[in-house]
Amino acid sequence: MLAFEQVTVGYPGDQGLVSVVRGVSIALSPGECVALVGESGSGKSQALLAMLGLCSDRALVGGNGMLDGEAWDLADKARSSTLCGRQVGLLFQDAGGSLTPHFTVRRHLLELLGVHRGLAGERAEAEARRLLDLVQVPSVPDRLSQYPHELSGGLRQRVALALALVAEPRYLFADEPTSSLDVSLRAGVMDLLDGLRRDAGLGLLLVSHDLELVAQRADRIQVMYAGRVVEGGASQVLVSRPRHPYTAALLEARPALWAPRFTPMPTIAGQPPLPARLPPGCTFGPRCSRADAACQQAEPALAAAPAGTRVACHHPLVWAAT
Ligand SMILES: Nc1ncnc2c1ncn2[C@@H]1O[C@H](COP(=O)(O)OP(=O)(O)O)[C@@H](O)[C@H]1O
Ligand code: SF4
Ligand SMILES: [Mg+2]
Repeated sequence: MLAFEQVTVGYPGDQGLVSVVRGVSIALSPGECVALVGESGSGKSQALLAMLGLCSDRALVGGNGMLDGEAWDLADKARSSTLCGRQVGLLFQDAGGSLTPHFTVRRHLLELLGVHRGLAGERAEAEARRLLDLVQVPSVPDRLSQYPHELSGGLRQRVALALALVAEPRYLFADEPTSSLDVSLRAGVMDLLDGLRRDAGLGLLLVSHDLELVAQRADRIQVMYAGRVVEGGASQVLVSRPRHPYTAALLEARPALWAPRFTPMPTIAGQPPLPARLPPGCTFGPRCSRADAACQQAEPALAAAPAGTRVACHHPLVWAAT
């Protein structure tokens, strides 16, 4: 099992340390999908980068990592970064766009197969073909000789996924893996990630701003707001009986597929706070219809709630027992 406890990330600023991730914990087993969800700027990417020792040098990182019983301090970024490759593959938003323009697909794959697995010649070529088959790239022999600009966005993302799998990792961290793709291609890439999880037993950490997208795929969801997890639990429970007002607002803000034309897109009123200017007490308070004086006084702790969920709210939504 791979776990991270109380991950924190801060950046020194003129007024002191600005905390952008404030005590995020996750645990992930092979074959399982856990999602980190929240609006843009809530700290999802910074949390993921901190787990892998990939935050910028300026970042002050805290917390613990644990892999198969061995623990380390996440402040040791070099130690954390040893997860990359053999343990954890990484797929970023628009990873396809970061391929080297003057390398063919073959060269991308062969170089990494040499570095991570010491493969060369025919064995490397055969493995490159197997990986492209695995990520369902059609006409593999033709694709191997193509350059990134000759591929569609969907195919580039699949090649990026093949590269993330070169070292045969047990876990894959995917940060907004479909955001740069047309809507028509998103389901295909998500189905592919699902298949890898099911068939190859890959543990998947899925980072997304889209609660609806992850609700159908993840076993468990952690909802982030202003650098913290404010609600976490099994996907089905969290989506059908949200307890935190922010989770409920995210669910209400889903666009309705069959709404009449020109129906305004639902949104959550107000803006998320800047990390350097968090409001006192509950950070969701200024946008919350349930807020009262108690909410302004103390930030609620993440506490156990019914149905195995955890929620950080002084006045959570209450659901009848089912
Ligand atoms: N290098 C950096 N220095 C200072 N602040 C940063 C840096 N990178 C990101 N941040 C801040 O951290 C916060 C969280 O960013 P991020 O994790 O990218 O959000 P998300 O992935 O949820 O959209 C944002 O307010 C962002 O401006
Ligand atoms: S603690 Fe108060 S302000 Fe914060 S989400 Fe709960 S009810 Fe709203
Ligand atoms: Mg991000």
